[in-house]
Formats: sequence, structure tokens, C-alpha cells
Amino acid sequence: MTKIVRASAPSKIILTGEHSVVYGQPALVMAIDKKAFTKVERTKTITDPFIQITTQNYNTSVSIPFSTGPEFFKNQLVHLHPLLHIIQTIYIKEGLNDSLKIDIHSEVPKGAGLGSSAAVCVSLSTALTSVFDLDYSLEDISNLSFKGEKIIHGTPSGVDNTVATFGGCMKFQQGNIKRVRSSAIQLIIGNTGISRETKKWVSKVRTRYESYPEVIDPTFEAMGSLTQEAEKFLANGDLEKLGEIFDINQGLLSTIGVSIPKLDHLINIARTAGAYGAKLTGAGGGGCMFALVDKNNQHPVFRALQKNGIEPIIVNFESQGTKSEILSEIPSLNPQKSKKSGVAVLSSSFTRLTASSMIRSAIS
Ligand code: MEV
Repeated sequence: MTKIVRASAPSKIILTGEHSVVYGQPALVMAIDKKAFTKVERTKTITDPFIQITTQNYNTSVSIPFSTGPEFFKNQLVHLHPLLHIIQTIYIKEGLNDSLKIDIHSEVPKGAGLGSSAAVCVSLSTALTSVFDLDYSLEDISNLSFKGEKIIHGTPSGVDNTVATFGGCMKFQQGNIKRVRSSAIQLIIGNTGISRETKKWVSKVRTRYESYPEVIDPTFEAMGSLTQEAEKFLANGDLEKLGEIFDINQGLLSTIGVSIPKLDHLINIARTAGAYGAKLTGAGGGGCMFALVDKNNQHPVFRALQKNGIEPIIVNFESQGTKSEILSEIPSLNPQKSKKSGVAVLSSSFTRLTASSMIRSAIS
């Protein structure tokens, strides 16, 4: 009486336009082939369903019996809150009641600006819609994941969950997200291991902007122009030009004050070892840098970063978005299907309400 599904979603990297995007300039964000994976096992439950969540990157495993568990999460295990919120939303909307065993793993480090949390939220949303045979579009999955992202980030732009859902490369400007063409580029990511708060660095940039608007405003405009140029070279695969744009963008990021010595150091190492170009990615102040490479210079750049105590990650452009596969299914688990939506109707309204309200109090 079980169904097991595994879903994945890619993480992302900001190629150009971080910070200037806050001031209305375009940014390019690309899905990478390092992913988050969610395995969900659904077990038909008559009474007292439970959710068991194992998060490998946080090394936590908890089981919440709906009848006793909510207070367990008050002010702790906050990384589970967005996941429970997504589950709660879908349980209430679709009137679900079965027990779930959820196993989550992400290939990218958390808190490094690579969109790990969005990839996790999207892979969970995809796995849930698949394990319950819900007829959700990719847009619906992205929106559902965005609800989880808001629990983590407050007011995120929505670009991370969009890229994790649809894959490919997106141009993002003033709330509009447009897919753009990309050749299959390869990057090497170096993580400084220095954690940074996006809010703090966005606010530092604001201070510099207010102090020197006649310098910083044109800097943002220049960053916007670089994004437009990068879009061309990304499409036609001109790595020399694209690398040059990353280098110029890095110079401008230093101008607005978000690079730090460790980022500068790793970027210089990568350039000296032969990368086409290198820059920080995300908010700066720590987090990650990346270097543009191909098979000709991948090895020396990787080794040079490694020699400096970094564990580099080689990533490739990922054209595919979220995906799921059914690992095992017992057909009798789906007794009734609503003709309209294909949604399985499995429980009484009483038990549905119990499960949903329990999860709600677990995350409040
Ligand atoms: C952070 O990943 C990217 C920033 O541009 C902030 C934002 O766009 O919200 C620094």
C-alpha cells in the first residue's frame, strides 16, 4: 500500500547583474547541474498520519505524528518550516491525509547563494504532486515552492524557484522573467566558506549609492549593459567575450564594495590558471566565486583552486528543470479520482482537517 517517487530540481548561479538588478537593471541567472533530490514515500493511512522528514545536509531526521508533534518545531529546526508549509498548503488545498516519509538531499552547499533552498522546495513540490497524482503545471509547482521560499527569505524575487522549476537560463528585470538561449557552458565554483547575509550587503550597497549617486548609478547602468552583452555571447558560445564580461562585472562589483579579499584572491588564482574570466556570484561579502572554463583549461583552474584549500565544484549549464520518476507503486492506493482534476480523494473531511491544522501549528 505505498507509492514511492523521487524528484529533482536544479540549483542556480547568477551570471551577471547581482545588486544592479535591485536598481532595475537586468540580471542573468542560469540553472546548473547540481541538484536537490526529494524522495517521498506515501503510505495510505486511516487514522493518525505522520510525516517523517530526513534532511541529509542538516543531518536531521524527525517524525511528526499529527496527534502529538506540532510543538516539537517551535523555534527549532527552522530549515523544516518551509517544507512543512509546502506540505500544509498542498494538504489543505487537495484534502490529503496519507502519511509521508520524505528524504531530502542537496548537492550544493546551503547558504552559498546557489539557490539550494529553492531547489529543495521545488523538488519537494514536484515529488508531492507526483506521489498524489495531482495535475499541477510547472507554473503551479513554482508558485507552491515560492510559498516555501517566502518562509526562508521574506520577500525573495522569485527567480530562484523559477529557474529551479523550468531550468535553462533566465533574464530577470523588474519582476519580469524571460527565458534566454544559452550554450552549454561550464563553470568552476569556489566557495569561500564565509557566510554572508544578503540583506546586509544589499544595504551596504545602498549606503554607497546614496553617498556617490553620480558614480554608482552609472556603475549599475554599466552592469546592465554587460548583462545585455553577456546574453549575446552566452547564446553564441563565445567564451573569450563572455569571460571578459565576467571580469569587467567583477571590477564593477568591487566598485560598489561587495568583493572581499578572499573572493579577489580566488578570482585571481582562477584567472592566472587560465580561466576565460571569473567573478563573484550573488550578494558578495563571502559566498562563492566562479570561473568560466572549458575542457582546455578546466584542469589547471580546478587544481589551482584546490591547492589554495578550496574544494572546487565543476558545474554545467542545465537546460532541464524539475523532474520526477515513480520508483514503486501499488495501484490500489488510488481508489477514486476526481474526473476534473485527476486528484485522488482519499480521506474524510474530519481527518483532513486534523492533519492540516496539526501541520499549521507545527510551523507557526
Ligand atoms: C543576491 O543573491 C542577489 C542580489 O542582487 C540581491 C537580490 O537580487 O535580491 C544581491
